[in-house]
Amino acid sequence: MLCSPDNSALQIHNLPGKPKPVNHLITLAELTKEQIYRLLINSAQHKYNVKCEGKPSSNPLGGKSVAMIFSKRSTRTRVATETATAYLGGHAMFLGSQDIQMGVNESLLDTSVVVSSMVDGIMARVGAHQEILELAKYSTVPVVNALTDKYHPTQILADLLTLHEARANDENYRAHLIHPEETLAGLRVAWVGDANNILHSLMVTLPKLGLHLSIATPANYHPDEDVLEIAKMEAAKSNTELTFTTNPLEAIQGADVIVTDTWVSMGQESEKAQRLKEFAGYQITMEMINKGKPNENWNFLHCLPRKPEEVDDEVFYSKNSLVFQEAENRKWTILAVFEALFVNGEFQA
Ligand code: CP
Ligand code: NVA
Repeated sequence: MLCSPDNSALQIHNLPGKPKPVNHLITLAELTKEQIYRLLINSAQHKYNVKCEGKPSSNPLGGKSVAMIFSKRSTRTRVATETATAYLGGHAMFLGSQDIQMGVNESLLDTSVVVSSMVDGIMARVGAHQEILELAKYSTVPVVNALTDKYHPTQILADLLTLHEARANDENYRAHLIHPEETLAGLRVAWVGDANNILHSLMVTLPKLGLHLSIATPANYHPDEDVLEIAKMEAAKSNTELTFTTNPLEAIQGADVIVTDTWVSMGQESEKAQRLKEFAGYQITMEMINKGKPNENWNFLHCLPRKPEEVDDEVFYSKNSLVFQEAENRKWTILAVFEALFVNGEFQA
């Protein structure tokens, strides 16, 4: 935990104050399905504009700054954030845990008030989910969750864009011309792995968009109760299937998409030996896939970074694997999120 005081009873009288309520992206559970679709459409449009038309940006973040408060490592989220901000004409300022006072000499509360007084948006990767809630509570500018131990919302936007592109038959970058509801609703997604931030994020998002989700986790690994409640409610509303098993073969039967993630997330390194034992039989291999019988045109997703224990090379580097397109799509989706929050101040439907 970072050195944040328990300020539940604290009266803070000297806050600069928020001129108006500020919108954040903490979890996709807070967005409507129309707002999520709009982000995907905008992401696809930006990707098309840049990669096919070579269109320059109108620099809507010109003269503005985005603070990147990252207390954990990152390759994709960092590169995506910095390049997306540059494309929008803004300046991204990387503030790693070795650079700033937060967590060592200064509380989250004070950091949030100070940093937000000078920038136009914050992208934050922290440890406990409570930390991002506290950053957002005291920030006078929008805060985007770049990963906590509970949720990783911007990752799931990239996953959805990737599936949309694959289903939109995207050799000619047609994804921006087709509504993602047409390609995504009804897809069967199988998760085989840990009950972690990525699974939580899929659970609060996919049922809302009409995708079915079958989940295989080892016996002692369960998603958080509040996440489960949200997922069940959304599945009931959209009439989609949400199923749980400890048998990976059962989960991937009939699946269009197979997803996994590391068995040892950042911050869980001391549990590695125990986890490797408890995840025995969960490595995704061609043998597992052949036995499990997903749909013929199944795809594989992984947020990365990948370790070979959760998926072997044959699957990871196969023609069915979309992992590198998924990684690139972190940029286009983060770009759409920043445009919504840091330029327009809100998510549009
Ligand atoms: N998927 C993802 O968030 O990767 P990084 O940890 O490298 O940012
Ligand atoms: N579950 C992983 C995701 C990394 C992008 C972690 O939290 O480390």
